[in-house]
Parts: sequence; structure tokens; C-alpha cells
Amino acid sequence: MIQIKNQAELKGMMKAGELAAQALALAGKHAVPGISTWELDKIVDDFVRSHGGHSPCKGYGGFPGHNCFSINDNLIHGIPSKKKILKEGDILSCDIVAELNGFMGDNTKTFAVGEVSEEAKRIIKYTEEALYKGIEQAVAGNRIGDISHAIETHVKSGGYACAEKFIGHGIGHEMHEDPEVPNEGKAGHGPRLMPGMTIAIEPMVNSHSSKVNILNDKWTVVTTDGSLSCHFEHTVAITNGEPMILTLESH
Ligand code: MF3
Ligand code: CO
Repeated sequence: MIQIKNQAELKGMMKAGELAAQALALAGKHAVPGISTWELDKIVDDFVRSHGGHSPCKGYGGFPGHNCFSINDNLIHGIPSKKKILKEGDILSCDIVAELNGFMGDNTKTFAVGEVSEEAKRIIKYTEEALYKGIEQAVAGNRIGDISHAIETHVKSGGYACAEKFIGHGIGHEMHEDPEVPNEGKAGHGPRLMPGMTIAIEPMVNSHSSKVNILNDKWTVVTTDGSLSCHFEHTVAITNGEPMILTLESH
């Protein structure tokens, strides 16, 4: 069932979104050659805790980290590791969820580590643009399929493919709520968007093919051909007017 949030709940979502966005910015600042994803996870977790929040990902389905850090062909759900050390030219997706006072904020960015290839810059640009194309459609009266279709269209226009199987989601008191928010779909189809709905929109984009595998660690999702992948995400509220991005560093 899709939950409609009241004004007090939306305020709580804004606060959680701010914390998640600040934590993501901090991860980006520290994403430099030589640091391990374990160290990044610790920096982010310390920050979130020191602001009264925590990560709902830790232990979720047995996930061992607090946040997901996914390098290059690793699309999503990369487990923080002391052995995963960033190097110049990598791209790093940081997927950060913060829970604060019973509300969730979920956001992701793919960062360039030092100087990266033109190929890397291009997939980052298209994936971020696809996120904003999706957000533009997150208005009352539209349907979920309008968001999906806008994302799909932009991703394909760049010659890229949305990853199979993984999608965005409703979010609120829980990290994953209804409705599902696919990255591909038909305009005019799916649940109707209403003021007070809060959703996480998250294009997950592969260079060539939608195909993905899950590694033996049971979490890390990778492209099957070893090519680059990219992920951007915001938590967004449907309002009576413009879409409201909740995962901003300040409101
Ligand atoms: N941000 C991810 C999502 O959108 C978090 C899931 S990772 C997990 O679903 F470890 F918590 F599963
Ligand atoms: Co999400």
C-alpha cells in the first residue's frame, strides 16, 4: 500500500534526507586515490551517528556494511572492504541511507576518483541527467510509468542500458515501501502520483547490456561484460507543485 505522508512526516523526511545528503557529500570528498571503501564506510557511519542517525543497511538481509560502495563494473551493493582501495581513474558509486528519528533518506552518486576517462565522464553525465529527467516527471497526476519512461528514454539516447532486475522504491518509515519505481516503463502506466508520496528514484546504468551478475559474496552486483556502470539516486516528495528533492544538504 502506498503511504501518503502528512506535513509532520514530510518534515521528518526532509531532516533524514539532509543528513543522508551531507553524508554522501562527505563520502565524495574523501573518495581519493589510496583510501579503502572500509575507511569511507567508517567516515560516513561516524558522521551519521554523530548527528543522531544510523544506517538501516547494516544487517539488512545480512548486509555487512553500513553503506554500499561500488567501483567501476560494480553497479550496486558493493560491500565496504579494506582490500578495495581507490585508484586514480576509478568511478565510485556511494549509496548512502540515513535513518533519523524514524525516517529514511536514501541517495547515491557516482564520483570520479581523480582524473577519469572520457568514457567514465560520459556515463556519469547521462546517468545523472536520467535521474533529473525522472524527477521532472514526479508530479501529482502523473503515473510511475512517466518517471520510468523518462529515465529509460534518456539512458537509451546515450547508447546505454538500464540494469535488469533492480529498481527504485517508495521510502518513508521504511527503506523500501510501495510503490516500485522501475527505470524502464510506459508513459501513462502504473500507480498515479499523489501529493505526500515519497519515492527513491534511482537509475542504475550499464555501458552496453542490461545483464548483471551477483558475485559470490552474495551482494555485489556487476556488469556481466566487465564494462563500467553508474548509479544516481535522490529521495523525492510529490507535492501540489514542483517535485521536492528531500536529499539535499540543506533545505
Ligand atoms: N540504497 C539501497 C536501496 O536503494 C540500499 C540497499 S543496500 C542494503 O535499496 F544493503 F541495505 F540492502
Ligand atoms: Co534506494
